[in-house]
Amino acid sequence: MQKIIAANWKMYKTRAQAAQSAASLAAGLRTVPAERCVLVFAPFTCLDVVAQAFAQNPALACGGQDCYPADEGAFTGEISPAMLLDCGATWALTGHSERRHILGEDDALVARKTIFALEKGLNVMLCIGEKLEEREAGNLSAVLERQIHSVFEAMPEGQSLDGRFAVAYEPVWAIGTGKVAGHAEVLEAHAVVRTLLQGVLGNAAERLPILYGGSVKPANAAGILALDNVDGLLVGGASLDAQSFLQIVGV
Ligand code: 13P
Repeated sequence: MQKIIAANWKMYKTRAQAAQSAASLAAGLRTVPAERCVLVFAPFTCLDVVAQAFAQNPALACGGQDCYPADEGAFTGEISPAMLLDCGATWALTGHSERRHILGEDDALVARKTIFALEKGLNVMLCIGEKLEEREAGNLSAVLERQIHSVFEAMPEGQSLDGRFAVAYEPVWAIGTGKVAGHAEVLEAHAVVRTLLQGVLGNAAERLPILYGGSVKPANAAGILALDNVDGLLVGGASLDAQSFLQIVGV
């Protein structure tokens, strides 16, 4: 399976800074190895700039960090899937831990966003992951099951997901903390996610990429990427600097 290396720029970068970073990535990734696909989840305000810089290279794409599940309407501050597509984005993140835990999104809203974005033609990366207290209470599997099932219970029959859907496992305690999950923890969680996906999708689950995110750096990226059931990386802090992200992509 092609490995997806994704950057999540979160709420960083002006348009000028984004243009500079995207140009450095496009230049550094002129020949992306065939087994890699590179995504940048940029702030809404920079998406057109990033999409433009990536336009000549089919191995690079950009996405929004969120979207609202409606075509248009009185939803102040929100951005629809159509607006993301209009800016040149082809992907959206849903359920990022910062949206769940800082902005209060629940499983039902994450499910609505995921399904609506897929229906409207975006590819979706669904983020899941447990908090430290949930892990310590032995609830890893139960949390991942709840987060995955809430989406699939609401998914319409026959929704095509091949090449359009990925899951990012990001343990909340490893995000932005410098505390990367150990290889055994990544292996355990990714195996749980694969089994849960098999339960809802059968054999098709083999083709769904599962990414790891949480304190990925150039020094630990290759080791994590080589683990069973790790089909990519979702990188926050270390993606802000183009050279550091290029090292993680492995070029
Ligand atoms: P860090 O790589 O900064 O830990 O962030 C991970 C993340 O939240 C990516 O979505």
